[in-house]
Amino acid sequence: MSPLDPFIERAVVLTRDCAEPADCVLALAPLMLELVEGASTFLAPAHYRSHPDHYSRNLVFAAPDASLSLYTIVWSPGQWTPVHDHGSWGVVGVLEGVLEERSYVRLSADQGADEGIRLVRGGIILLGRGAVTSFVPNPDHIHITGVPLERPRSVSLHLYGRTMNNFNTYDVASGTRRSVNVEHNES
Ligand SMILES: [Fe+2]
Repeated sequence: MSPLDPFIERAVVLTRDCAEPADCVLALAPLMLELVEGASTFLAPAHYRSHPDHYSRNLVFAAPDASLSLYTIVWSPGQWTPVHDHGSWGVVGVLEGVLEERSYVRLSADQGADEGIRLVRGGIILLGRGAVTSFVPNPDHIHITGVPLERPRSVSLHLYGRTMNNFNTYDVASGTRRSVNVEHNES
């Protein structure tokens, strides 16, 4: 039996019942660890679609009430996100390769404004196959994710606490951010 259906069922219940984002990721991270182990039983070739110009997001599941979404992301060498946050909690598991996350630290107080944002580069995390990481949006988790040119492609599973059709991207030099739509492939 595919581990996807029981994962989704449990994730829907946990997401509904958890009091705070930190409770959601605490409960869901171990489930993601299991899901990654069994991913070959439910992922189809469509979930491994890539794009030569940018990383590729492939939808695995989206809750009808927009409370949850699950994607594979295929990162070819040299493909990175912009600097962004998600406005949501998230749990990420690595299926293939080494996914790199470079974090940013916000030095200016978050007053909800889209300008006057001072960011400095923080630490990096290298996530090998089987690794699970998570984040919560309080404060915003600001980062870039991708794969350097010198490493092979990576494929990862991303669960978010909302439909992830847009996120905030940041211009570090000008200290501004804006909401942008992000595309994905339907299966
Ligand atoms: Fe992200």
